[in-house]
Amino acid sequence: MAQDPTKGSTKLRSDRWFAPDDLRSFGHRSRMMQLGYSEEDFRGKPIIGILNTWSEMNSCHGHFRERAQDVKRGVAQAGGFAVEMPSLSVDESFTKPTSMLYRNMLAMETEEMIRSHPFDGVVLMGGCDKTTPGLVMGAITAGIPMIYLPAGPMLRGHYAGRILGSGSDAWKYWDERRAGNISDEEWLGIQGGIARSVGTCMTMGTASTMTAITDAMGLTLPGASSIPAADAGHQRMSSACGRRIVEMVHEELTPDRIITDAAVRNAAVTAMATGCSTNAVVHLIAMARRAGVEFTLDDLDALGRTTPLIANVRPSGKDYLMEDFFYAGGLRALMKQLEERLDLSCLTVTGKSLGENLEGAVVYNDDVIRPLSNPVYHEGSLALLRGNLCPDGAVIKPAACDPKYYVHEGPALVFDSYPEMKAAIDDETLEVTPDHVLVLRNAGPQGGPGMPEWGMLPIPKALIKQGHRDMLRISDARMSGTSYGACVLHVAPESYVGGPLALLKTGDIVRLDVPARRLDMLVSEEELEARRAAWTPPEPRFQRGYGWMFSKHVLQADKGCDFDFLERGFGPAAGEPDI
Ligand code: FES
Ligand code: MG
Repeated sequence: MAQDPTKGSTKLRSDRWFAPDDLRSFGHRSRMMQLGYSEEDFRGKPIIGILNTWSEMNSCHGHFRERAQDVKRGVAQAGGFAVEMPSLSVDESFTKPTSMLYRNMLAMETEEMIRSHPFDGVVLMGGCDKTTPGLVMGAITAGIPMIYLPAGPMLRGHYAGRILGSGSDAWKYWDERRAGNISDEEWLGIQGGIARSVGTCMTMGTASTMTAITDAMGLTLPGASSIPAADAGHQRMSSACGRRIVEMVHEELTPDRIITDAAVRNAAVTAMATGCSTNAVVHLIAMARRAGVEFTLDDLDALGRTTPLIANVRPSGKDYLMEDFFYAGGLRALMKQLEERLDLSCLTVTGKSLGENLEGAVVYNDDVIRPLSNPVYHEGSLALLRGNLCPDGAVIKPAACDPKYYVHEGPALVFDSYPEMKAAIDDETLEVTPDHVLVLRNAGPQGGPGMPEWGMLPIPKALIKQGHRDMLRISDARMSGTSYGACVLHVAPESYVGGPLALLKTGDIVRLDVPARRLDMLVSEEELEARRAAWTPPEPRFQRGYGWMFSKHVLQADKGCDFDFLERGFGPAAGEPDI
């Protein structure tokens, strides 16, 4: 075999498919020739799978077909052989009821496609929210060398001299439209200007959060997550991924060497400093658990209490978007500010340590990437709550809500379904005050189903007309990373499986205390016991198919919503194919 023994690799995994002089390998080689390749093209070379989540229904990945060609160029330059393989696209914009229902499907697909094919290494192409955790979770379990290629944020939105931020400005201007302040013509202009290039949402939403986490964990080329999708540097980064993955195969640089306890903590610290999406909680925990790292809500909260938010990027920051963040130095510059809080010895896909990757990183605009002495918010962006409403935890993003809600007591206004809530909030005669606490239940992993991003419950029209734009809201749903407001999310256990949220009644007093990290209903234990005895479980959402499997096996939010049977430790790992 044409292998360079000085590069450390003694045997390629793909040899199992192509090297033996037997009938099966004859078949594999002959089918490669059917694809138009000569033996010289692929024999003895690292075979790199490019797992591409391109789809015409994924507006954020519109550049991925071209980028896959850049990756191939890099792979060939480094002496490898690349094959592109389509992967479930899990687009955020169109998938109903929610893309979260399919994150685990992508994770399963990724794991199985890697395991069953002759790949020595993989480049994972993703970016739109769930694609990042889905691809990474599956690839962690598959265990061969991998590098993550983030789609990159889109350019700033623009309309009529105004800068527009993904999601955040959609919610903001929608409220203004409901208040009668925006014309049809303006609305159409905003619609056309808010997403004006390829790439992922350019606020610090879930996409930018998750690619930053992957970058901080050492799974992307350093700083790759900040490069705008439309920048020529994104193409150069793509071909560099191709070159590097071939070297990683020779170095046998597998994900278990990168995703350690310390790497997960580095990712969490970085996420907190960026003003991360609340979705980071679910996905980071799921990714960590796949890697065998026990990382909990309490770990996140502890890091959140001590990590200042220094990225002045919306929605947690006030003024800027991801394009500004890139020009200000990007994630490397942000992480450079955090050096004392990071474990710089962590190994990364470059084969170098995190500390080496951060050498020379500079902040070019210290209003966008703040020094620790002048943070946007003195704590990290998330706080984890517990109490008799959420014994297994709930999440709030204090940096993105009005501080007057940090300690709040008010009567609950409870809805059992999204349609019921929507009809009520649009009713201008609804009896509601700014002190009320809006509650939506049956919106968790099983109830939603799939834990949809419904958690930023709309403010009732009656209050909008009075000029109110925020109020305390509670649900077992998630919310978009671009959302904001006093929204308590991810209540666990969810109401659909009988969590205490199921026992709350309209009129009960709810108390939130963010400094004390508490969320409680002020209802006696005897009364709750009586309500619990009277509670009957709702009908299952699905009777067949993927949804049935999802409902049977999805874990609660505090465990990352992975399937129980995909978790590390569920059973012995599948061996390599031996036939
Ligand atoms: Fe794809 Fe926001 S819709 S990243
Ligand atoms: Mg999103």
